[in-house]
Amino acid sequence: MKKRSIVSITGLAAVMLVSGSAFAWLEKTGERDEALSLKPNRENGIEVYEVCAACHLTEGWGTKDGTFPQIAGQHQTVLVKQLADIREGNRDNPTMYPFAKPESIGGPQAMADVTHYISQLPMNPDNGKGPWEPGTPEWERGKKLFEENCVKCHGEHGEGSAEKFYPKIQGQHYLYMLRQFEWIRDGKRRNANPEMVEQIKNFTDEDMKHVINYVSWIKVPKEDLAPSKDWTNPDFD
Ligand code: HEC
Ligand code: HEC
Repeated sequence: MKKRSIVSITGLAAVMLVSGSAFAWLEKTGERDEALSLKPNRENGIEVYEVCAACHLTEGWGTKDGTFPQIAGQHQTVLVKQLADIREGNRDNPTMYPFAKPESIGGPQAMADVTHYISQLPMNPDNGKGPWEPGTPEWERGKKLFEENCVKCHGEHGEGSAEKFYPKIQGQHYLYMLRQFEWIRDGKRRNANPEMVEQIKNFTDEDMKHVINYVSWIKVPKEDLAPSKDWTNPDFD
């Protein structure tokens, strides 16, 4: 009798641990750290990327309607974390999940190769923008919200931080960011950073649109951009 109750308590603790880890933001995952420690192979990166290009496009630019995010030029650390989270079911992405699995693309070396390749791709010079142009009152309001609530993590120009796994959000599509931001605020994106969730919990839908509008208009440094919006990725000619 006594023994059984110990077993069930241990069982309960294990369940709590597992469900707790599903919400952990930056808990060490073997796969993520291993992928980041490996030397990337460009040729294999291109090969693996073919699968991804079906949705993210060969340029990695995603789509303006927000269905697919731009991933070109993102920090490699962020790409590895997001990919590992999706593989582990820590971020829901039913569309992409089957293509992200080890059976489809391979283990940590393949992750290292493909994410390094994506991080080196030039970004779309014509990302999807919000409705309020720079100088309008709504843009001004978004700028203020951004400075007060976002700069400390995403940086003054939305450049993020490779070292801290904070995503680059400059140059991202407005409609994609709006969806992610809302999911993060409302607790639907399980791998979200708890400090960000806390920071934005009182944002109204209007605050959200204004701040994301501001982000969508931030200028990306020229050297990170493709020469024109008609550029095509020569690795896939
Ligand atoms: C069948 C379509 C599809 C395929 C194939 C696909 N993705 Fe995705 N991917 C998506 C969608 C949709 C999202 C956005 C999901 C959301 O809204 O949360 C996404 C999101 C991502 C993100 C997160 C981006 C961010 O800004 O947080 C990364 C990283 C990513 N994909 C990398 C890859 C890689 C690497 C591959 C190839 C191994 C790949 N994807 C293949 C559809 C796809
Ligand atoms: C405490 C740090 C922190 C603060 C403050 C913060 N963020 Fe974030 N943000 C993050 C992290 C970390 C992620 C990625 C979480 C993950 O791993 O999924 C993220 C993700 C995002 C994403 C999704 C990016 C993508 O590619 O999917 C958007 C959009 C975003 N933040 C916008 C904002 C805006 C706008 C503000 C201010 C109103 C803000 N964030 C405040 C840390 C922060």
